[in-house]
Amino acid sequence: MPRVVVDAVIDHINLEARIGGYGAASEKAEMLDAVYNSVATLLGAKENEIALVENATVAWCQAFYALPLKKGDRVLTCQAEYAANYVAYLQRVKRDGIVIEVIPNDAKGAIDVAALEKMLAKPAALISITWVPTNGGLVNPAAEVGKLAQKHGVLYLLDACQAVGQMVVDVREIGCDFLSATSRKFLRGPRGIGFLYIRKALIHTMEPVVLDHFAAAWVETNRYELRHDARRFENWENAYALRAGLGAALTYAQEIGLDNIQKRSWELAQSLREQLNTIVGARVHDAGGQHCAIVSFSIEGVNPQAMVAALRAQNIIIGTSGIESTRLDYQARSLPDMMRSAPHYFNTQNEIEQMVAALKAQI
Ligand SMILES: Cc1ncc(COP(=O)(O)O)c(C=O)c1O
Repeated sequence: MPRVVVDAVIDHINLEARIGGYGAASEKAEMLDAVYNSVATLLGAKENEIALVENATVAWCQAFYALPLKKGDRVLTCQAEYAANYVAYLQRVKRDGIVIEVIPNDAKGAIDVAALEKMLAKPAALISITWVPTNGGLVNPAAEVGKLAQKHGVLYLLDACQAVGQMVVDVREIGCDFLSATSRKFLRGPRGIGFLYIRKALIHTMEPVVLDHFAAAWVETNRYELRHDARRFENWENAYALRAGLGAALTYAQEIGLDNIQKRSWELAQSLREQLNTIVGARVHDAGGQHCAIVSFSIEGVNPQAMVAALRAQNIIIGTSGIESTRLDYQARSLPDMMRSAPHYFNTQNEIEQMVAALKAQI
């Protein structure tokens, strides 16, 4: 997190400690409310199409579980689908009898748009894909999928958790009906807060699975009235300090410019890929024709967890990826456990070189 983000969170907590949580929320109401507009601007949406929730998974689940899917309804997803989403599909297979169908990949390993078009010859209830998956540097063709969804009148849920903050995102251009994302990844905001976009025309058609008196006012003893905006997917109590942090992260990212962020982080990642290829036994496991700022790699004979720990001791922060996050992709490509580096715009070429040197020194 940038310093301004950390300060925004801490300042709000300090204010809560001084004047109480309700007082702090009321004193900072304007700033906290402006976060909806900042998220909407980031996504090319309208303020009333945004719900702020606990994380990307909750955002995604709020949309998915509110869909009245029934026995035999086809849900078309992708091979790189994120585990949390797939587990939710499986639950609704068990509970509601929906049918999961996986869109095949093209020769490069991204969603095969032509294959999707063929699948849409039969009615489908939902297209639900991950734009940028946990591993593989893949950027799925979200906007092309959106065109097909619109052409065939099929609802389209997009997991943009790893795309938001590293790339330019425009929900109207993509043509999705729902988009979920988080503060904690490329946006450099705090953990524990995420957001959901719902296209305005759909809001009144969807009743959230869980309701409270914020999502729906208790207007008579035996009657409630749902909110008319996307906030019907929220509830009353919120982490306002995290919301303040998200707001600061959004302002910070916009000041740099999402196009600048995308260009710079993707260039650094490309440079990392090239340098990794100079390490004997190293393999970069990219998928798709376009590669983002997530670099997944393995090195023969190297245990990823041990390497991550060794690098952390030198203040070089990378992570690991395993089958538990993207099972279908791991199985289809017979992937090993991998290391994962996600250089961001604030990194330098020198740091990329240091990381590669540190890897070489450890093997
Ligand atoms: C593609 C993708 N979608 C969704 C999520 C879930 O995000 P969160 O854990 O913040 O809810 C992740 C997290 O790694 C992810 O990689």
